[in-house]
Amino acid sequence: MKNLLIFGAPGVGKGTQSAFLAEKFSLSQLSTGDLLRREIAAATPLGKRIADLVAGGKLVSDEIVMKLLAAAMAKTEGGLILDGFPRTVNQAEQLDDLFATLGKKSAAVIYLKLDESALLERVVGRLSCGGCGAVYHRKFMPPRVAGKCDDCGGELGHRPDDNPITVKTRLAEYRQKTMPLLEFYRNKGLLKEIDGDGTAAEVSARIVASI
Ligand code: AP5
Ligand code: MG
Repeated sequence: MKNLLIFGAPGVGKGTQSAFLAEKFSLSQLSTGDLLRREIAAATPLGKRIADLVAGGKLVSDEIVMKLLAAAMAKTEGGLILDGFPRTVNQAEQLDDLFATLGKKSAAVIYLKLDESALLERVVGRLSCGGCGAVYHRKFMPPRVAGKCDDCGGELGHRPDDNPITVKTRLAEYRQKTMPLLEFYRNKGLLKEIDGDGTAAEVSARIVASI
């Protein structure tokens, strides 16, 4: 399996499906959201600079994100699944250049689609593990023991940007800056449009059938 990109609105299930695809096809999963949150949690100089932007639901600059992604990519081998990247046309063009220098290519862009009311329900009910980053949902994917991660036993909590007000900003950023990427990848013949409604397993099956 080559390199996959997964694309869609906040809370649509990119992280959940990336974890599944990474396991199924032995890919390295790279989420720019996770990379940025790691910098913030470690309170690096970069983390301190971007914390307010991320907590407020605004995109971080292309320059910062490209640097983080390229550094993380250099540590991987084999195929990739890029989760939440690219998010602007400029990032997509820079990714093409980066892939070209590494002899890699994007094989497919999975576009997950879901109604806004369902997105909101997924986002506000999400629980994330402070230890390993695993993702749960209060109602749809509860952990076995309340408040504890099934995988590592870490504490589960809410992301600071998972509230209805910040979700509005995240959606506005998505519509304005990320939606133009649909045309970009459709023109390249790479876009796979997937209905994001239904259980995670149902969505996974649709993705696997499409690629
Ligand atoms: P990021 O972390 O990428 O956030 P996002 O795009 O808003 O997406 P989420 O992680 O919130 O949702 P998801 O689609 O991964 O859904 P999940 O699988 O968790 O980015 C955060 C911030 O970082 C951005 O706002 C920006 O500031 C910055 N950033 C990141 N990348 C950037 C970039 N490239 N450029 C610039 N800035 C960048 O699922 C959500 C919930 O639903 C979970 O609770 C899950 O359990 C549940 N769920 C999943 N699937 C299903 C299902 N089928 N049925 C029911 N529940 C489900
Ligand atoms: Mg995610």
